[in-house]
Amino acid sequence: MDLSLEKTVNAKLFDCFEKLGLDTKFAFVKISDRPDLSDFQCNAALSLAKSAHKNPREIATSIVALLENDDCFEKVSVDGPGFINIRVSDILLNRVMNNIASDKRLGCAEIENPKTVVLDFGAPNVAKEMHVGHLRSAVIGESIQRIERFLGNKVISDTHLGDWGTPMGMIISEIMLKHPEWPYFDDTKKDNFPVSLPYSVQELTEIYKQANTRCKEDENARQKARIITAKFQDGHPGYRALWQHLRNISVEAVKKNFDSLDVHFDLWWGESDAHQSCYQILKIAQEKNISEVDDGATIIRLDESNKPKPPVILQKSDGGFTYHTTDIATVLMRVNQLHADEIIYFTDQRQSLHFEQVFEAVEKLGIAPHVKLKHIGFGTVNGPDGKPFKTRDGGVMKLEDLINLSKDKVRESMPSPDEVDGFSSVQEAHNYIENLVNQIAIAAMKFQDLKNNIASGYSFEINDFAKFEGKTGPYIQYAIARINSIMRKANAAQILEGNVLIHTPEERMLALKLSQLSSVIFRTHEDKEPSIISDYAYTLAQIFSSFYNAASIMNAKSSELASSRLRLARITRDVLTLLLNLLGIQAPDVMLKKN
Ligand code: ARG
Repeated sequence: MDLSLEKTVNAKLFDCFEKLGLDTKFAFVKISDRPDLSDFQCNAALSLAKSAHKNPREIATSIVALLENDDCFEKVSVDGPGFINIRVSDILLNRVMNNIASDKRLGCAEIENPKTVVLDFGAPNVAKEMHVGHLRSAVIGESIQRIERFLGNKVISDTHLGDWGTPMGMIISEIMLKHPEWPYFDDTKKDNFPVSLPYSVQELTEIYKQANTRCKEDENARQKARIITAKFQDGHPGYRALWQHLRNISVEAVKKNFDSLDVHFDLWWGESDAHQSCYQILKIAQEKNISEVDDGATIIRLDESNKPKPPVILQKSDGGFTYHTTDIATVLMRVNQLHADEIIYFTDQRQSLHFEQVFEAVEKLGIAPHVKLKHIGFGTVNGPDGKPFKTRDGGVMKLEDLINLSKDKVRESMPSPDEVDGFSSVQEAHNYIENLVNQIAIAAMKFQDLKNNIASGYSFEINDFAKFEGKTGPYIQYAIARINSIMRKANAAQILEGNVLIHTPEERMLALKLSQLSSVIFRTHEDKEPSIISDYAYTLAQIFSSFYNAASIMNAKSSELASSRLRLARITRDVLTLLLNLLGIQAPDVMLKKN
């Protein structure tokens, strides 16, 4: 059930509007911009006045007259031309807090009509090591995955591994140049290929780079790669066997990267899995008469009335399918096999045109008539120069190196294992610290990413992103650990959590903030914008800090007061932990820091 204060106030307004015969569509409040004057504001009277041909103040006054005597409100008044200012009563706040305290979901509603949502993120490719450019897709996608799941949608996450297409032909061709004697290239050999390949993913990345350069410079090499791609897609046994190795090596490396980021997928479908469906797409396009043959290739022309848009090439003149075709075919599979109601793709903004083309072709093909397709394009992770983040020598920053760099940064602020108490051995302390370093580093990287609007790029703040103060992941982790420690002390002093009874402005402010949780998560879900959650978590942690400085638990004047404050603290801890979890970040019980 939605236990947010906003919902409760809206419900009150709704009843009042019904009684007054006003259009209930306008019966909602927004959080006040002037917290010194009110908690909520309702601007309905201004919208209602136009159609009712009445003075907005008059309407507002009639609403206020009905709400005034309700003990849920401390003060309801008309302001300016007809704004309604609402301050809720402590009675209502206490009630909402106590309900949230005993609710497993902390007062968060679930989606009324759950849907099957397929999330396509991570964007890894075979024979390419993951780099900084992959960070955002993984981090944003994982957060949205957790949020959608928490709200009750059925989420199926899928990587759409780049394991098909010309890059595969290019790399096979390059390996062939190096080892023409290998059995994969013997066109007469059908089976019994070697069981492993002596390459690491780093070596494959290198080979891919060489292949790329060669193909850029040499038309013959390009032509050869194209032919190999077509043969390989057509099922050439040797190429397929080699490809299977490349795929295995890459998937293993990619999984390691995702695991260290605490990012997980339900499916590992690749472009290759869509191959058969590509023929189906071709057939549908021909039957519906929406494709044409252009210079040997089968294409779908798109609507260009608003802007020029290149046609979608379904099948190239050499018979190969394209990145567009595999994406379109994958939509068909996600609809038929996964019963998707919605498919959301998370990639760099630079792929916007690709998805516009894919979505338009899908519409023309009529293969996903009731399915919502959405592309969320994000900006790049930049270096101090505002350009995409690079290593010191100007190379591409590997994801693994970036994670290690973040860990090194966090390790700098950790005590040494022999300095910390409470462990039975230095080794145990060391293990604890290393685990903590990991959790904090990932928190720092993810929070830095998720505190920014998705669409805008951001600079990787190498000096600040892992600080324990300011708007960072570690700051929120600290806030949680601090409350844990407060709770342990209270426990030792035999203080038990009890009914919330608001007394001071700081308690009131904290309760007001906590009661926004459900609306905050729903807004994040609607906008697909985790920065809403990060903002809220940060402000909540700050408000808790002011609360705790002003309202001591251990030295409270009465045991009721101590119990009430302890409950507020506990709810704050649970809310912050939930928020971090929705961002894909862990909350360690205890944090350590160098003195
Ligand atoms: N592997 C692709 C790339 O590296 C990204 C895949 C994104 N998802 C998709 N369905 N196209 O660019």
